[in-house]
Amino acid sequence: MASFENLLLQLQNGILTITINREDKLNALNRDTVREIKHAIQQVYDDPKIKAAIFTGAGSKAFVAGADIAEISELSEVNARSFSEQGQEVFNLIERCTKPVLAAVNGFALGGGCELAMACHMRVASNNARFGQPEVNLGLIPGYGGTQRLTQLIGKSKAMELLMTGDMITAQDAQDFGLVNFVTTPAELYPKCVELLEKIMNKAPLAIGLVIDCVNAVYTKDENGYQTEANSFARCCSSEDFLEGTNAFLEKRKPAFTGK
Ligand code: COA
Repeated sequence: MASFENLLLQLQNGILTITINREDKLNALNRDTVREIKHAIQQVYDDPKIKAAIFTGAGSKAFVAGADIAEISELSEVNARSFSEQGQEVFNLIERCTKPVLAAVNGFALGGGCELAMACHMRVASNNARFGQPEVNLGLIPGYGGTQRLTQLIGKSKAMELLMTGDMITAQDAQDFGLVNFVTTPAELYPKCVELLEKIMNKAPLAIGLVIDCVNAVYTKDENGYQTEANSFARCCSSEDFLEGTNAFLEKRKPAFTGK
């Protein structure tokens, strides 16, 4: 497995844990880190040993406290556009990954950190986590998809509120708004993520990947999601796992899926 300067990668039982490892800067995302995230998520796509992934932050204080403010303070208009587009490309890769990707949010998830969590398929948060898009405090707006994904996840009204006030919200509020799937104690955070992924990894992998595609299609303007669903449904019906799943049900046994 490739080595990284700002990430720690650990593969265990098919789950790749990707830890953003800049604890002294509250895991803020500088350009190098975003580049490394791209390589790490590409490994998730390419390596058949990897069945799922978890993003988390080093230490107990922060998931990711945003894009690196020291770096963005020096952006010009031209650089800023490519900065935003490159970050969006990486986060889109996470969102479109056909293997399940969770965010284990273990502290501050602000700005780019909230955007990273939102690019994941689900979010589990420890009860000390705080979420927010505080960019307006810096004379900025989110640039890694935050205006879009926050609105998709919690609706226009609440998204407008959080984006315009820059307020931080608790993990409990984030769950109430639909931003977070589960809230745990800090000690239960990682085990809860593993439990959730193990449940999903027991299902047919092809079907899981197609669920991700179809749900994403709701938010893809040039795609007819119903057509994507019909095509994906047909694809499932031609798979070995579909035969196995239906036979196992009829034979009253557990299915053994192979991903084919
Ligand atoms: N970019 C760069 N460095 C950051 C950072 C960011 N987004 N967030 C935190 N840091 C750095 C701080 O500069 C500090 O570094 P230093 O020790 O070299 O001075 C270190 O991380 C610790 O942060 P600090 O502010 O001292 O911790 P705190 O507990 O007092 O406050 C936060 C925590 C998260 C409330 C505060 O760090 C903060 O507001 N961060 C910025 C959040 C933000 O605006 N994100 C969106 C960016 S677009």
